Formats: sequence, C-alpha cells, structure tokens
Amino acid sequence: MKTILDKLNELKLSLEKHNYHYYVLDNPIISDKEWDDLFKKLQKLEDENPTLIDKDSPTQRVGAKPLAGFETVAHRTPMLSLSNAMDNEELSLFNDRIKKLLETESKIEYMAEPKLDGIGVELIYQNGIFIKGLTRGNGFEGEDITQNLRTIKSMPLKLLGSDFPSLLEVRGEVFIKKNEFNDLNKYQIEQGLQVFANPRNAAAGSLRQLDAKITSKRPLSLNCYEPGVIKGKDYQTHEDFLIHIKSLGLPVNKMIKKVTGTKSIINYHNALELNRNNLNYEIDGTVFKLNKYIEREKAGSRSRSPRWAIAGKFKAQQVTSKIINISVQVGRTGALTPVAKVKPVYVSGVTVTNITLHNQDEINRKDIRIGDSVLIERSGDVIPKIVKVVSRENENSPKFQIDSSCPTCSQPSVKLKDEAITRCLNPSCAAKLKGRIQHFCSKLAMNIEGLGVKIIEQLIDSQLIKRIDEIFTIDKEKLSKLEGLGKKSAQNIIESINASKNTSFSRFVYALGIRNVGEHTAKILEKKYEGDLNNFIESTEEELINLDEIGEIVAKSIVSFWKNDENKSSVKNCLSSGVRIIKPKKSLSNHLSETIFVFTGTLELMNRNDAKKSVEDAGGDTKSALTKNTTHLVAGKNAGSKVEKAKNMSITILSEEKFIELLKNS
Ligand code: IVH
Repeated sequence: MKTILDKLNELKLSLEKHNYHYYVLDNPIISDKEWDDLFKKLQKLEDENPTLIDKDSPTQRVGAKPLAGFETVAHRTPMLSLSNAMDNEELSLFNDRIKKLLETESKIEYMAEPKLDGIGVELIYQNGIFIKGLTRGNGFEGEDITQNLRTIKSMPLKLLGSDFPSLLEVRGEVFIKKNEFNDLNKYQIEQGLQVFANPRNAAAGSLRQLDAKITSKRPLSLNCYEPGVIKGKDYQTHEDFLIHIKSLGLPVNKMIKKVTGTKSIINYHNALELNRNNLNYEIDGTVFKLNKYIEREKAGSRSRSPRWAIAGKFKAQQVTSKIINISVQVGRTGALTPVAKVKPVYVSGVTVTNITLHNQDEINRKDIRIGDSVLIERSGDVIPKIVKVVSRENENSPKFQIDSSCPTCSQPSVKLKDEAITRCLNPSCAAKLKGRIQHFCSKLAMNIEGLGVKIIEQLIDSQLIKRIDEIFTIDKEKLSKLEGLGKKSAQNIIESINASKNTSFSRFVYALGIRNVGEHTAKILEKKYEGDLNNFIESTEEELINLDEIGEIVAKSIVSFWKNDENKSSVKNCLSSGVRIIKPKKSLSNHLSETIFVFTGTLELMNRNDAKKSVEDAGGDTKSALTKNTTHLVAGKNAGSKVEKAKNMSITILSEEKFIELLKNS
C-alpha cells in the first residue's frame, strides 16, 4: 500500500514534470486547471501532514519571513560582462581576432544567443538542490536573493533526474515577458501602486524586494545561458552544456543556435534584429560565444570581459506614430516646452505617449505639425525623440507656433534673441509656482516627505499656497480637507514640514530654485558665505565671479534673483516661520579628523563619491574595507554582511540620515 510519503513524492514529481513540460519544453501536457488541482491536492496533503513538508516542495516557494536586508556574497568566479560590437563590421573584426588568438584559418564555431534585457543572476545547485541565488552585483560579489528566486515558477527547486553535477553554478537572466509586463502595469494602476517604466525595471525591482511574497506576485521568467563553477561533470562544448541543463529542467532560450564563421554570425544578428519586435520579451542585442570550452581557455579573458565572447548591439529602435496634439508645458523657470502627444507606441521597452519637442527652433527645423506621422527613436534608457516627419496627412495643416501668451496664466511670454526657449515672465504664474514648490520640497532640497505633486497641485489650485514660504504656515484643518487626505495624513505632512525646518544653507539655497544654481554651486556658496543668508542676499556679481567654479552666467542669475523683492521677502518669511539654517562649523575642514569611514549598501540621499568627499573635506579618511582602525560604518539601503562584522568589531554604525546629521552638525 502507498504510504502518505509515497503519495506526497508522487504528487511533487508529477508537478515538477509538468513544470518542465510547461516552462522548459513550452509544451504542456495537462491544462492549467489540472495543474492547479494537483497543486491543491499536494497542499491539502501537506496541511494534514505538516511534518512531512520538505522545503523544496512546489508549495514552498514563498519564504515566510521578510528579510532585514540582503547579504553580500562573493561569486566563486567573477561574473564578467561582455564587450560590444556596435555594427556588422565590428562583429567581423571579432571573428578575425578570435582566429588570431586561436592561431587558425579554419571556420570557428560559436553559440549565438539573444542578449536578454533583464537582470543577470547566478543560481547554485548542490546535489541537485537549489541552495543559493545571487545577483550579478559588481561582478565579484552580488546579493543573496535566494528567497526571491525561489518564487520564480520556471526555476526548478530540484533538478530533474539524477545525472546532475554535484555542484552546478549556472548563470542566467531574470526578465518579464512583454504581455505579462502590460498586465502587471494594469494591475499596479488598478491597485494605485507604482507603474514600471519597462520590463527590465520591473524585474529589477521585483528581485530587490525584501518580502518574497511581493516577488511571488510578479511574473518573473528565467533563461539560463552560462556555467559558473561546476564539479562532477565535464562539458566539452557550450552546446553540450546547454542541452544538458535543459534536460535537468533549467529553462534555456529557444533562439540559441550554433553558427560558424563571420557570415553566419552576421546573418544571425541581422535576422534577430529584424525579428526582435515579434518576440514576447525584450532583447538588446545578440551574444556570440566560442562553442568549444578548450578554445575559450586559449582565447582567455580581460579583467572585465572574456575575449571569447562578444555582444552584438542593435541600432536604436525606431517606430512610427502619429502626433495627436502638441501642448505647451510651463516649467518652474517659466520655460514653455512644447510636448507632442502621440498615439501610444511601444519602443525599446516602454510605451511612449508624450515626447518633448524642446523649443520652437526644434519644431521649425523638423517642421513638426499636428497630424504628422513621425519617426520616433529610443535607445536604451534615453528619452524618446522625434527623428523626422515621415508623412503629412493634410498638406495644408498649419505650422505649429508656441503662443505668445503663457498657456497657464495667459500673460505674455517672451523669446529672447539669443535664447532658444520661450518663457512666461509672470512671477505669480500658477504653473511656475507648482514647479517651484515641487522643487523646493524635493529630496535633495528641503526633503519634505509626503508633499507630492498631487497635493501640491491641490494646495495651489485651492489657493492655500501662493508663495513658497506659505508652506510653513499651512493650516492643518484646511489641509486635512483636501481630496484624498484626512486628519492622519495632514498630521504626517505637517510633521515632515516641521522636520524640514532645520536645514543647511546649501539645501535651502538649492531649494529656492535660483536659475543655474544646482546642488554643487549651493555648496560652494555655503562655504563662501559661511552659512549666512544675509551676506548671500547682498552678494555682488564681482564677488561671485571671483569664486572658484562660478562664472558670469551663474553670478548674474544670483544677483537678478535677489533684485526681486518678492524673493527676498519670501526667504525672510521662511525664516520667521521657523526655518533655521544650521551654520557649518568654521573649522569644517577638521571636525572629522582621526576618523576612518567605510560605506556599505546603497546611499539614497547622496552619491557615494560625494559622501566620501564630505568626510575628507572634514578631515576624515575613507576606506573600502573594515579594519581595526575603522571608526564609522555608514550603512545604506540593503547593506550586507559588513554591518554584522562592524557590530562585532564595535565600530560605530550610522544610517545615511545619521551620517548626514553628523556632517551637518559636528
Ligand atoms: S553571457 C562572460 N549570455 O549581458 C559572459 N550574458 O554584459 C557573461 N546577458 O550581465 C554573460 N543575455 O546579464 C550572456 N545570452 C547571454 C546574455 C547575457 C543577456 C547579460 C548578462 C550580463 C550582460 C553582459
């Protein structure tokens, strides 16, 4: 008679087999409903016999507890990147180089693969069991994302059969299919959650979740394409490796093909480029790898990329669409920017609906008109642009001309002779005010959490705020009556407004939005005026030009900003409403002397180089590794094992916020 254990094993094996047919062979032999029934049966049996649940059961993909952070783990062998060939010529040169390296004139065998546009990961199987999974990280060490990888249904928790290497490290790409990405974004919108810019971002964000329950709801896919360290099995060729891992249940891309010689390389590349829009996943090129592992050894590697492989890049993607309308947006400086609304098109991973046309000169140069069919280009993360007009529906359609009055306040706008940009000059234009307040509240400026675009719009539209300084005197009662807010959120916003009042000179000056004064310039000014706003308000052009890194344009912008009495009184009102500029210590260059700082994890409020520089400016030192001389560890988001280590070494551990406090206050 079958024991319960037999029944459990049978069900698990059956589910694993069907997963293999579904995800790896792409050829399911049962319906989704039948699969669900098997799964429920297993779940029920496990519920009745909890002691018999093993952690590699298909029901155990989602880990119970959210993590506090990801551990950093070194890769046994580095995960290298690929060097690029930008066109067919460079692909052909790659083949020539390989021939030289291998000292041969005969045709060379490559495995040709699509270059998947997702997130590189490493999976580690020990005796057929998935034990750990890492991100690529910096190539040498990655983050332990085992919990999240376990939720990917196409990734086997156990390898099939018994003919597996005792240690199998396999590298691959986690990605989201185009149709599933669209469904995901629809769901996110319905639920009022964040919308993802493209499938790659969505995949990256999903893998970085500390709570695997969230990851398990994301439609992640996996393709495996490279070996890491392997023990207990010897593969002669990449082709053999791929065939074998596929038989073990690991998904391998179907477009992978063996090619020989330059012509076939180029044919494969061109064919895939032509076909890329028909694939249900994003690819950003092709990859060609020597097939014979012995030849890979002979060709060798550079420090960051192997000589035996190359990535063939695709040209920027171009698509056509039609301009439905052109509207003019008003920025915080009053710049009027024409924006084309186009019929939504999907290009390089995003659906494009709005494209900036920059200014009137650009519109004239390309003669862009409403109703035109235009060629749109987008490469990688670059913002989409209109390359040219392809056809005009109506030859008599009027040329587009930015109005001589501001679309928001209807006051006259001006295009200065030597400027490309048309500007609204009305200082109390509502659109400008919105932009200015958004900037004032932003993270690197006053950092007022909770005061987002929507609330700012409501505050201005309902006339609760007419000037920047009025942020500090918002009435809590009135705030709580705005749509979507309530007592609790109003209280939270008031608290973060109050918390922002203690600030630094550079943050405050940057927040004012003086034209041409960015964060860096604000810091230079902070040093010069030693945190004294009154001195800064009285600054002269001459005095400013004498400062390092400040030129005539910046100096002129500053002086003209203070010429405007409204700006002066707005600053004064901020101060009388409780904004307090914490003055930098005169001995700024020394207050961190005899300290040694190490940074770990991701800093979110400043970049790591600036953070290091601030420590060094204050007389401290920075190092990359913890030693007995380290005095402080700054732990950013997702800090890894260094935190534990620092604890054991009694090193002071600071959050990023505490670190910034220390820089400001000491
Ligand atoms: S092989 C040493 N094959 O491209 C070879 N990588 O720049 C290492 N990628 O981080 C990678 N598709 O995430 C390889 N078929 C493929 C790939 C691929 C996408 C990504 C991978 C890696 C990056 C290399």
